[in-house]
Amino acid sequence: MFDFLTEAIRNFRSTGSVWPSSPALSNAMTSTIARVEGPRRVLEVGPGTGPFTKSILKKLRAGDHFDLVEINQTFCRKLEKDILAGYRARHPNVQVRLHCAPIEEADLAGPYDVIVCGLPFNNFPPRLMRQIFRRMFALLKDNGELLYFEYAGVRAMKSPVSDSAGRARLKRIDAIGKSLRRRHEGKKQLVLANFPPAFAYRLKGGRKKAATSSSSKRA
Ligand SMILES: C[S@@+](CC[C@H](N)C(=O)[O-])C[C@H]1O[C@@H](n2cnc3c(N)ncnc32)[C@H](O)[C@@H]1O
Repeated sequence: MFDFLTEAIRNFRSTGSVWPSSPALSNAMTSTIARVEGPRRVLEVGPGTGPFTKSILKKLRAGDHFDLVEINQTFCRKLEKDILAGYRARHPNVQVRLHCAPIEEADLAGPYDVIVCGLPFNNFPPRLMRQIFRRMFALLKDNGELLYFEYAGVRAMKSPVSDSAGRARLKRIDAIGKSLRRRHEGKKQLVLANFPPAFAYRLKGGRKKAATSSSSKRA
């Protein structure tokens, strides 16, 4: 917890929060993995101190492949020491690789069945958000699933304390998210047991037509 807070103060734009995600949000972000059959390929982007990582590792089986991409060297060292080294020793038949690099540049070979993304897009320039989603969809199987989250009401809270350029940026981030959810059959789940409460979003791989059905809870 203390490491997370220290890095959040040092690198607020890339960390985007002062608190690691809760077990409830970790569960919402990773439950889909258990439903994938056969050897699974899973990618986690922005693991931080590893709340989603721990939940993913519990679901993996022999033959699965798990890549993690984290930009922050301090988090990478902590993940390796506290979580990954021990897991690898106990599970030699699960391939786990940590890439200490930005997702924009990491050397990855898709396709993945599931991508779990913890990046704080509301802190990013819209162009970077688009670039990162383009990369993640290029790495995702057509029938795969991409999960990301944001804090509930985050833009409404940030807007009043932003200047006009900041408010315009937040509007573009909102529009990009809505467009992604329309094109990729987005579903959302509100997780109250997190600080702050958050929405977990699930997007389908492949490029879909804009949704027209009202059968499921659309994001
Ligand atoms: C909001 S924190 C989430 C951490 C953790 N998943 C959680 O939910 O508690 C965002 C994480 O994304 C990482 N990050 C930010 N930009 C990144 C990028 N371009 N590529 C990879 N990781 C990035 C940060 O260093 C940080 O660990």
